[in-house]
Amino acid sequence: MATSQPATRPANPRFSSGPCAKPPTFSLEALAGAPLGRSHRAAVGKAKLAQAIDETRALLGVPEDYRIGIVPASDTGAFEMAMWTLLGERPVEMVAWESFGAGWVTDAVKQLKLNANVHEAEYGRIVDMGALDYDRDVCFTWNGTTSGVRVPDGDAIPAERGGLTICDATSAAFAQDLPWDKLDVATFSWQKVMGGEAAHGMLILSPRAVERLENYTPSWPLPKVFRLTKGGKLIEGIFRGETINTPSMLVVEDYLQALAWGRSVGGLRGLMDRADRNAKVVWDFCDAQGWIANLAEDPATKSNTSVCLKFTDPAVAGDAAFAKAVTKRLEAEGVALDVGSYRDAPPGLRIWCGATVETSDLEALMPWIDWAYHAELNAKREAA
Ligand SMILES: Cc1ncc(COP(=O)(O)O)c(C=O)c1O
Repeated sequence: MATSQPATRPANPRFSSGPCAKPPTFSLEALAGAPLGRSHRAAVGKAKLAQAIDETRALLGVPEDYRIGIVPASDTGAFEMAMWTLLGERPVEMVAWESFGAGWVTDAVKQLKLNANVHEAEYGRIVDMGALDYDRDVCFTWNGTTSGVRVPDGDAIPAERGGLTICDATSAAFAQDLPWDKLDVATFSWQKVMGGEAAHGMLILSPRAVERLENYTPSWPLPKVFRLTKGGKLIEGIFRGETINTPSMLVVEDYLQALAWGRSVGGLRGLMDRADRNAKVVWDFCDAQGWIANLAEDPATKSNTSVCLKFTDPAVAGDAAFAKAVTKRLEAEGVALDVGSYRDAPPGLRIWCGATVETSDLEALMPWIDWAYHAELNAKREAA
């Protein structure tokens, strides 16, 4: 039982699951090349936006025949754009095992009023992806950021399918292997694994998704920020950096810097390895204690980015006030910021392990969690 404070503090206490820690090399000075005060439609602006698209493709290994667009409103904007423009042509399988997936279910059922089969799993569990009907459209989240449960791989998704697979990949992209042949739509925000800023979403479309866009018109009206076609044809400019509305060139520059950092640590493999190494520090710590465990029940589904933990001692299991008090102690000591579990998730800790976090900081944090847990437990016993 740890009662005295550990000697070492993490050099960077930022373990938030979004916006996530900036890349270790980040500095505001590095953004000096941003074409501020210039039009994003001037050659310099368009070139930066096209560079962001091209370098995303190269780093993530997105096939040449997939389109990549920068769209408004972060991951939410990109995912809703996909739902509003593509769904309704056929019935849909809506899949959720945590809060964000559940939000997309609400949109499909209550807003779009689609013919939807809803498949939901409790926090810590996952829906059987092999039991879905892939001749329907399928909407799902690759990595459930609020439960720390992820799809292990794309094996359950058939290569030949009638419907489209529409995947919210925001806390998976750059940390987990995304099988592009199994994904017709993937979305993410720069603010997650790459430690970029929010407000801009990435929308990745397979040729089959483009075919749907060009051959199907939803029965509902589409606001300008959602419109991807004109006269039944894809607006190709969006996928070359001619954004629908005005982007922040400062944020674009920041993303370009993050991509350059990603290449410097070994590209996609290097980024995924960093997340794996980071998550292992937390997993090993949990395995060595008797009082804290991963929320993910099946080890194959354990996230390597948003690692969600629960306290298992019956005296405090499920005790939201206790979990909050532990996170308060960590924050007060300046050793971990924003590590409380998501508001709708079971009480506990959520520790971001994506690539921008340094392994040494997680190693320094673990003894502090031990300390904060026992300090709070002692305080609770004394108060009783
Ligand atoms: C799985 C998932 N989907 C969507 C979002 C919303 O992202 P944004 O706020 O960038 O739109 C988040 C944010 O944490 C998320 O984790």
